[in-house]
Amino acid sequence: MAREFELKPAPSELAGEGILGTATTINRRQFLRYGFNTAAGVLTASLGMLGFAAILLPPGGGGGGDLAVQFWAKGREDEAWYGAKHLQPMTKADFEAEAASSSTGTAGAAGVWNGVPVVVNYVSHSKYAGSPESNGKARFQFMEGYDETGKYVGHFEDLAEADPRLMPSDDLIMVFGRCTHLCCIPGWQLVSNSFTEDSWTPGGGDDGGTKMFCICHSSRFDPTALEMNTNRNRSNGATFNYAGIRRAGGPAPVGLPIIPIQLNGDVIEGITDYVDWYTYCD
Ligand code: FES
Repeated sequence: MAREFELKPAPSELAGEGILGTATTINRRQFLRYGFNTAAGVLTASLGMLGFAAILLPPGGGGGGDLAVQFWAKGREDEAWYGAKHLQPMTKADFEAEAASSSTGTAGAAGVWNGVPVVVNYVSHSKYAGSPESNGKARFQFMEGYDETGKYVGHFEDLAEADPRLMPSDDLIMVFGRCTHLCCIPGWQLVSNSFTEDSWTPGGGDDGGTKMFCICHSSRFDPTALEMNTNRNRSNGATFNYAGIRRAGGPAPVGLPIIPIQLNGDVIEGITDYVDWYTYCD
């Protein structure tokens, strides 16, 4: 008999759309359809055994330099636009080509970087930043951030002024791929719903699509809304401010931290200066 995997019940707002319905179990075939979230099982188990101090390991497979970000399409080879590029280094040209067919000018992909899950998003900011927001074309928004209690933390530009590498590089942004709720791996359009559709609404709220979506309990993150926020190291409780993308909805308390990137030729590479920001799942 096929193995079944237990899911937490979807929130009523999604159940009403029939995305997960009321089912609390899915079989292996359905589970594999969630692609990179399936990989979460492997990666999370590895992280659990190794501990955070050991996760920045030399990457295996693929090309590019040691800091190159690689596509991760395991289980979604036939569905994801990058399905044939599993473990190949990500290039800006890959994202530009995909975004050309998007009405919002966006594209995103799951990846792996030095052993950790990441999501890279392309936003046609340089093309649309000066155009009316009402046109639905996505662009980066630089915003004030508030912690989970509503207390003002700071503005994204406060951190970006101190380190300009935190600004989106070449219309690309990379975030750490562990949900701030219970550390599942949010994805880019791994499921189809109103939060992931190809539409964009300004403000960093829950309206519009193009959200990163965590299937575990349906948290949403807006990769175009950049803010300063705060989180804590799970091991020692130390708090830290970070530059991240905004939590748009769901049980996640705060947004996901940015991993600054640079282009090596056309290959996307991560910069390792902000490892402390990824310790909330340690
Ligand atoms: S782990 Fe619960 S919403 Fe992501």
